[in-house]
Amino acid sequence: MTLLEKRIALVTGGSLGIGKATVLALASEGADVAFTYLGFRKHQAEANEVVGSVKGLGRRCLAIESDVSGFKEAEDVVRHVMAELGGLHILVNNAGITRDGVVWKMEEEEWDTVIDVNLKGCFNYIRAVSPVFRQQKHGNIINIASINGMRGKFGQANYAASKAGVIGLTKTIAKELGRYNVNVNVIAPGMIETDMTEQLTDEVKQQARSEIVLGRFGKPEDVAGLIVYLVSEKAQFITGEVIKIDGGQYI
Ligand SMILES: NC(=O)c1ccc[n+]([C@@H]2O[C@H](COP(=O)([O-])OP(=O)(O)OC[C@H]3O[C@@H](n4cnc5c(N)ncnc54)[C@H](OP(=O)(O)O)[C@@H]3O)[C@@H](O)[C@H]2O)c1
Repeated sequence: MTLLEKRIALVTGGSLGIGKATVLALASEGADVAFTYLGFRKHQAEANEVVGSVKGLGRRCLAIESDVSGFKEAEDVVRHVMAELGGLHILVNNAGITRDGVVWKMEEEEWDTVIDVNLKGCFNYIRAVSPVFRQQKHGNIINIASINGMRGKFGQANYAASKAGVIGLTKTIAKELGRYNVNVNVIAPGMIETDMTEQLTDEVKQQARSEIVLGRFGKPEDVAGLIVYLVSEKAQFITGEVIKIDGGQYI
């Protein structure tokens, strides 16, 4: 018996990294999965590969090109998933970006884009699934923040603010949707090996590694495993929590 049989999940940013590992982990546990990605043909091959892997596991899969920062687009995606897959039980707000720079050099566009994708993107999808989850009196929402939203990080004013916002948003939504049997939690990863961290300089990576008590970066599958647990029946008394997964980087 798999953990997520008869469940339907939607993951934002599922073509790469943590999102991709999450799509595959949910499908491995029996869920049908839809995922979004930004697209513009940048990671089309990767998205197709994820769809192929999910179908190879015997589950249904939908890949949808859509920018999470669009309010109406999020509503369209949720409607599309409901029509094609016949329901929705799990939302993972994973899509996120960085545009790093010290605050005195940060452009308005770098601030706005990061807030729009990382914070407004979560709101857009929570807003879009709320009527569905309220009506069916069941649902699980996982938002991906970062330890840098809890502790701050030099050069990441926009990113840290967006992720701190995700934590406040999550706690509020947990209070608002709890009475409808909807669990809402945040995962705050530390350094995970993905394209996002690959772009960092060797110096930044080395400095991060020195902070991590386990002495290594995590893998996307580490985060995906935690997500599977949190949305499974085993964890349905957990809501409004912020769970760090960082090898002890921020203790
Ligand atoms: N990696 C880490 O160490 C780390 C640490 C803490 C928190 N996080 C958080 O974990 C999440 C995933 O990070 P990652 O490292 O896996 O990132 P990643 O490898 O860069 O993948 C990002 C994913 O998000 C999608 N995406 C980007 N902008 C989007 C938009 N506007 N609309 C829709 N989709 C969009 C990308 O789609 P395309 O393929 O089409 O570009 C891709 O699927 C992010 O929220 C990040 O902030 C990561």
